[in-house]
Amino acid sequence: VGQNIISLKTIDSTNNYLRDELSKSAPLPEGTVIMAEAQTAGRGQLTNTWHSEPGKNLTFSLLLRPGFINPADQFILNKCISVALNEVLQRILGNKAAIKWPNDIYFGSGKLGGMLIENIIRGSQWKYAIIGIGLNVNQEAFPDSLRNATSIAKILQSNYDLTILLSEICSHIEGWYLRLKSGHREEISRRYREKLYRLNEPHRYRVMKTGEEFTGTITNVTDEGILQLDHEGAQKDYSLKEIEFLN
Ligand code: BTN
Repeated sequence: VGQNIISLKTIDSTNNYLRDELSKSAPLPEGTVIMAEAQTAGRGQLTNTWHSEPGKNLTFSLLLRPGFINPADQFILNKCISVALNEVLQRILGNKAAIKWPNDIYFGSGKLGGMLIENIIRGSQWKYAIIGIGLNVNQEAFPDSLRNATSIAKILQSNYDLTILLSEICSHIEGWYLRLKSGHREEISRRYREKLYRLNEPHRYRVMKTGEEFTGTITNVTDEGILQLDHEGAQKDYSLKEIEFLN
């Protein structure tokens, strides 16, 4: 991972760039990284856009070919990448680095970054995973609309070298991806759960469909990516985009 890095100054979105490359005849090798100083149409989850001050942060996409994973188990790759990113951040920032289900990279209750994983699946074969990662590194000011955004520089009060950080991330992703490949799913799930934001703490949540709000306690995230909450002694399961975290 990261042996082949394509650096771009400005692009619409590094995820889009990789997807377009994949439709060409000569396929890129697994582990290729596309990074951009600036994105004009960086994408986040749902219909969100991803804002990042040009040149200050990491915005990149990484190509994997997880053909050994059944597409029905695709959330395990999310867990694997989350654990790898968390491990790097824990080394730099300490153990307030956390994983927020389903796609966020947290420090305390602040958002340091996020992932956008896009899959290309043909039949029952997982052809490609485009792992888009945006991480706030040296940006210190954020718009009011991103109230809980934070960055490595805000936390450490000093800048962090982007090239070094990218290579640390690539080597940790490679390590965890190889563990996934050799069947260590339980270890990945255990690490993921250990670092899970709000695990075992009562907090407020809102069910998106009904608007209903309740106090619940996260107990687990399954390998299918289902968030499990305890609400007054009963287990409630939510899949992606069904539930919102309240403060
Ligand atoms: C989120 O928090 O909603 C996910 C953000 C993912 C942003 C990254 S930046 C690099 C890659 N290219 C994109 O357009 N999005 C991802």
